[in-house]
Amino acid sequence: MSYIHSYSNTERQRLVEQADFLEKYLYPTISFGPGDTLLEVGCGVGAQIRCMLRRFKPAMITGVDRETSQVEQALANLPDEVQTGTVELYIATGDLLPFNDNTFDGAYIFFVFEHLSDPVPVIREIKRVLKPGGKFYCTEVVNQALYVYPRSPAINDYWAAFNRLQSELGGNPDIGLHLASACVDAEMTIRSFIPVPVMMDKRMTDSGERKHFLHMWERCLLSGASSLLERGMIAPDTPEKVSDEFEKLSVNPESIFQYDARQILAVKE
Ligand SMILES: C[S@@+](CC[C@H](N)C(=O)[O-])C[C@H]1O[C@@H](n2cnc3c(N)ncnc32)[C@H](O)[C@@H]1O
Repeated sequence: MSYIHSYSNTERQRLVEQADFLEKYLYPTISFGPGDTLLEVGCGVGAQIRCMLRRFKPAMITGVDRETSQVEQALANLPDEVQTGTVELYIATGDLLPFNDNTFDGAYIFFVFEHLSDPVPVIREIKRVLKPGGKFYCTEVVNQALYVYPRSPAINDYWAAFNRLQSELGGNPDIGLHLASACVDAEMTIRSFIPVPVMMDKRMTDSGERKHFLHMWERCLLSGASSLLERGMIAPDTPEKVSDEFEKLSVNPESIFQYDARQILAVKE
């Protein structure tokens, strides 16, 4: 199966670091009750499960991913939780969940729909397995929202190629903007639909924090580099040029780096 980020060990490690990095941006608007039973579709290596356990003390989280090797890594990342039964992991696709109707108190999906041609069958399936009143949070990408100052042509050209490939693989690099329409189609009731800005400008004064911020984004962007190189969609020296521009941004106090994800909260009524 073609997957822009690859299922390499580096990518698996990056997912854990990315979840920790983005936690302060993505989670303040999320709320589940202690003791809830939760479902994550596209749980990857279990990075968001770790955040959810830390923040909300749910009774149990069930993670589902279509890729066996991701689920194996999630098992390795959460050995105690799996052993005690706090976490259960399944290999399945989001549009065919191996659970009964009305099973979960809540569900969430982060950064999965960008890889799918249509999120609606998955949201319908989530609605089926949620209990009445159950909440569904979904946070997804809006890649056209990337803004970099000063102008960085290698980053911009690379990003255009990345998004072209995401579309060619049948995904949607701006799927975040479609979440509300998808929830309408899946007959979920929308409670909120908000941009989630992840931004660096002069308000971020600590140079270590600025470097870390940009390093995380550099790795996020370059997670598609091997797929793009394999297909000849970028030149062999493009990743190095992208890294050079990130380095320049990190030492320039005038730099601005802006990205907006989108987050929806919908409920099953
Ligand atoms: C970018 S990773 C995000 C993982 C996790 N949600 C996180 O934020 O760390 C996307 C994951 O979604 C999985 N995935 C993609 N399409 C899927 C589908 N239709 N059903 C289940 N999992 C899917 C991929 O295998 C991958 O592990």
